[in-house]
Amino acid sequence: MSEQPNFSDLGNQIDLAAKLLARSTHTVVLAGAGMSKESGIRTFRGEGGLWTEHGEPPMNQFDSFTSDPHAWWERRLNEGRNDGFGRSIDGAQPNPGHFALAELERLGIVSHLITQNIDDLHRLAGQNSITEIHGNRHWLRCLDCELRWPRTQFVIDATELPPICSECGGLVKSDTVMFGEPIPATALRRCHEETALADCFLTIGTSALVYPAAQYPANALSRGVPLIDINPEPTPLTSVANVVIAGPSGKILPAVVNQIHNELDH
Ligand code: APR
Repeated sequence: MSEQPNFSDLGNQIDLAAKLLARSTHTVVLAGAGMSKESGIRTFRGEGGLWTEHGEPPMNQFDSFTSDPHAWWERRLNEGRNDGFGRSIDGAQPNPGHFALAELERLGIVSHLITQNIDDLHRLAGQNSITEIHGNRHWLRCLDCELRWPRTQFVIDATELPPICSECGGLVKSDTVMFGEPIPATALRRCHEETALADCFLTIGTSALVYPAAQYPANALSRGVPLIDINPEPTPLTSVANVVIAGPSGKILPAVVNQIHNELDH
């Protein structure tokens, strides 16, 4: 258990994080909704969160989909996807935190990003090695063989619902993982493999309450891998992380990257 850091000395925490990252060659990152807050997308929990305000949605989304996929697709095609949260995602752009994280990949420090976000902003910012553990809002996926398509490249015939996979005949749904839906096996395998190789673990903007995503920093910690957490609010990670930086990722990550360049130049 690390001693409780001195929150007031942000500069010192940024320096500690930069030192740990600068010497890493296989940092794995777990990103959460806080990463996209400064892109105008609300978090779910914490201050101003969607569910903090409206309460959590029904946890049986996947059951209602599988019990009547035809009705689900009919509603989806008739009502469209433009709920308020969806609209905030579709208009969003990466923020300086996304670009700083992509820079850490370019520097050979970050090897893999596990993101819980479905907004595609990491890829737009130039990140390449990504597992979207909760899916991607702009993609569709076959429930059986896990084949994925960009929505724009999949023609849905409203007279032939639900859409069926051209490869295996399985049921096609939105790639976004629904509550109660198993995380695709390929995604879980990649997260497990990358975490097993991690020599440093960085968590950004996550309440660390949802599993299996929250298991990966815990797995790394159990191997003695240093954990750095960036979050303006306390979470279950605050008391176990080696370095805790209490601030917004859109400001903290660029400051960490800047300090790493100072470390690497000396
Ligand atoms: N920078 C960094 N972190 C921030 C910022 C910011 N600017 N603003 C808020 N946060 C933090 C909050 O303090 C909170 O701890 O981001 C975290 C967001 O937590 P959640 O809303 O719970 O998001 P996340 O951890 O990604 O949730 C996991 O839960 O409901 C499911 O599928 C959903 O993927 C989501 C999963």
